[in-house]
Amino acid sequence: MKAVFYVLPLIALAAAAAISPEDLKVATTQVERISLLKDDSDFVFSFADASKPPEVVGAGGSTKHAARDNFPALVGTGMAMTVGFLGPCSINTPHTHPRATEFNLVMNGTLHAGFLAENGARFIANEVPALSATVFPQGAIHFEANLGCEPAVFIAAFNDEDPGVLQIAQRFFGLPANVVGASLGGLGVQEVAHLASLIPDNIALGVDECLAKCGMPKGQLQPTKQQQQPAAALL
Ligand SMILES: *[C@@H]1O[C@H](CO)[C@@H](O)[C@H](O)[C@H]1NC(C)=O
Repeated sequence: MKAVFYVLPLIALAAAAAISPEDLKVATTQVERISLLKDDSDFVFSFADASKPPEVVGAGGSTKHAARDNFPALVGTGMAMTVGFLGPCSINTPHTHPRATEFNLVMNGTLHAGFLAENGARFIANEVPALSATVFPQGAIHFEANLGCEPAVFIAAFNDEDPGVLQIAQRFFGLPANVVGASLGGLGVQEVAHLASLIPDNIALGVDECLAKCGMPKGQLQPTKQQQQPAAALL
């Protein structure tokens, strides 16, 4: 009995030692994961670290995320976070998070936020001032716009380690052009291709009323690298 008492933890330790950090994501228990994260500092993520560039960059601003892909300490916690840096007159363009609800805290400035949760639900719009937070239900189409002439910052918490993101315009126009055309009431493939070519990278500039108010040029050339290559047309 005593032997079992001592041997079992030894087996567990040996098993843990054999696991490399790459195996963190498949570790069975949180105890195992904590022992794999050798430094206490493995539990700290710096959004200010300049050596980690923002993942999403457009003419209007950028976002940086901490999720299970770049912050292993989140594995097993069910949480992730994004910090958004929204320049003057910029918009985090409409998107959804397939696996998480978002709780978005405005740090400074004021954001205009809106979401559409599903067919039949009304559009919800709010002006969210500094130190107020708004919630976007999982899967809802949503956006945040900084309609001020100063940069603004938000912090978004997610209830999934890998919330994922799906940009509406950038992805929709990656469907077969004649499917997009049909769903827009019969637009031709050329018209669809033209619309698709206009879609700016997130974070984008806008809206026009804000640009006018802040004396910023309208119709600036914005990068368009985030567009999805259109799939082959049906038929
Ligand atoms: C918000 O904070 C950022 C970063 O510190 C700063 O650049 C910006 O001017 C601030 N915006 C407002 C509206 O205070």
